[in-house]
Amino acid sequence: MTDSSSSEETLANLLKEERRFEPPADLAANANVTADAYARAAQDRPAFWAEQAERLTWAERWDTVLDDSNAPFFKWFTGGKLNASYNCVDRHVEAGRGDKVAIHWVGEPVGDTRDITYAQLKDEVCQAANALTALGVNAGDRVAIYMPMIPEAIVAMLACARIGAPHTVVFGGFSADALASRIDDCQAKLVITSDGGYRRGAPAALKPAVDEARTKTDLVEKVLVVRRTGQDVAWDDAVDVWWDDVVGGASTEHAPEAFDAEHPLYVMYTSGSTGKPKGILHTTGGYLTGASYTHHAVFDLKPETDVYWCTADIGWVTGHSYIVYGPLANGVTQVVYEGTPDAPERGRWWQIIEQYGVTIFYTAPTAIRSFMKQGREIPDRSDMSSIRILGSVGEPINPEAYIWYRTVIGGDRAPVVDTWWQTETGAIMISPLPGVTAGKPGSAMTAIPGIAADVVDDKGRSVPNGSGGYLVVTEPWPSMLRTLWGDDDRYVETYWKTYGDLGYYFAGDGAKKDIDGDIWVLGRVDDVMNVSGHRLSTTEIESALVSHPKVAEAAVVGAKDEDTGQAVCAFVILRESAGDGGSEIVQELRAHVRKEIGPIATPRQIMIVAELPKTRSGKIMRRLLRDVAEHREVGDVTTLADSSVMSLISDGLNKGA
Ligand code: WTA
Repeated sequence: MTDSSSSEETLANLLKEERRFEPPADLAANANVTADAYARAAQDRPAFWAEQAERLTWAERWDTVLDDSNAPFFKWFTGGKLNASYNCVDRHVEAGRGDKVAIHWVGEPVGDTRDITYAQLKDEVCQAANALTALGVNAGDRVAIYMPMIPEAIVAMLACARIGAPHTVVFGGFSADALASRIDDCQAKLVITSDGGYRRGAPAALKPAVDEARTKTDLVEKVLVVRRTGQDVAWDDAVDVWWDDVVGGASTEHAPEAFDAEHPLYVMYTSGSTGKPKGILHTTGGYLTGASYTHHAVFDLKPETDVYWCTADIGWVTGHSYIVYGPLANGVTQVVYEGTPDAPERGRWWQIIEQYGVTIFYTAPTAIRSFMKQGREIPDRSDMSSIRILGSVGEPINPEAYIWYRTVIGGDRAPVVDTWWQTETGAIMISPLPGVTAGKPGSAMTAIPGIAADVVDDKGRSVPNGSGGYLVVTEPWPSMLRTLWGDDDRYVETYWKTYGDLGYYFAGDGAKKDIDGDIWVLGRVDDVMNVSGHRLSTTEIESALVSHPKVAEAAVVGAKDEDTGQAVCAFVILRESAGDGGSEIVQELRAHVRKEIGPIATPRQIMIVAELPKTRSGKIMRRLLRDVAEHREVGDVTTLADSSVMSLISDGLNKGA
């Protein structure tokens, strides 16, 4: 494990944690899922998952629950047919719940809100589906979505699903380059975007990035543009189409076609340990089963009375599974918020909770830590007594943040579910169940019913309680990724090579089992960082730095950061021709990374160095750089080709400081 020394330290502290929080009695008495589900699921996993698939409406029932004849290319519910968009909208309307609010949409400018019922959502999705078809999008074609958090983004995703065109949503904070490379990789022919969105009180443009991306790829035939901010946009009549012009006028009638359970639903790009992002492919039946079941089980969802809010962006997998597909398949009323937590003031989220009576709230530890820092006076101004369940996702939640979340936001009564999962897993895998589990601050606890996970050593042997190792999933599950888009070999190599002969999925996370066998996830064991809950690859940022003409070599590490969990720290060797790079070199390089990848990848710190620590085989020893970045004494340097390099780096930095 690359992280072992610092992880061990953290863990020693964590495992001293003795606080336990029993489920509230009324929640336990009425829980959607009870303790017996664990054993029942383990006894006959396919039967358990078939039962969960019954949550959905199928046009044709499946023949086989799990087809493992070509592992690790697993198939679920083969022979079954369904339409994901029908399951998320039409069936609620047909069941007489058309007037129920699906989305309380809250724009960033105060007062800019829209309540959208399931019937209205169905009409808009149908209109958009008709418009996409008219623009030449057919089943199987890929559509890129690059949008702010506005209702049209959700409508666009569901419209794609409705016509069987897999979407690839690219986070609006990503650069034109990142957008172009994703369009290229999955060969998207249409892009849906908007003129811009609101961000910290001001309109932020999006369309120019699409225009720029089009100069880097010639695959895009049409760009569908939602008018959100009204700002000026450049216009290409041959390509650009206003959403209002083609969607607004389209028919609200659209017959959803039933697609095969294994029909591709979407591709979501995520960082891997090499420079090129991986296109995680999810298909229809298994994914929707997983999203719907976990949303029901982990949040103890009562769709008739709950008001649910997940603060993720639809540009990430959390937005896919827990804003779009899970909650809408389950027919709940949810809040969707466009902006940042601090616009126009720092209490905005809590005001929204009070105003809409939010009962289930799902966010990330990085946000919780930033609120902790601001002090409880701000949330205390709002009445949040409606909250009954709190969720956390994206990175380990440190016990202090957990306690603060539970106490201040949850009124010391709402259980916190710390949910571990990944873009690849499609849905929550390891989490407490709020009506069953006595939660421990900092632990994701155990695999939920239906899922089998373990912590193993490098040979794949289950480690005893009280020890650490690698997190694996030991049985296939319905919402698992099916492959990497266009790269079956990399799929096998990345996830199945390590423990493939045992049939274990390798998650890339280190973890520990405590004395009770409960799981504590420690973080990535590969070259992937987790900054504010977002996955970034060290090599991707290194490639961006090296693409700058003044840079000869670069090494990037994730260093501990109080606010963002980890922060990007870069060590850069300049080219001789660049001299000392000039006084603005650090700013210049930070701006360069921002442009190449996006603001979230901007290094917190760039250190200009003369050498990088390398092994004899030329591999950069990031462990040592992390020691420097985290201001620790530098660890064992005996495997370095030149052991004086580290003192050279430290001396250089001390001089520079
Ligand atoms: C980390 C986000 C600890 C982990 C849904 C994983 C977590 C990566 C947790 C996936 C958690 C996510 N506790 N670590 N509750 N949730 N992670 O693909 O390292 O953006 O491998 O999916 O985030 O990030 P991704």
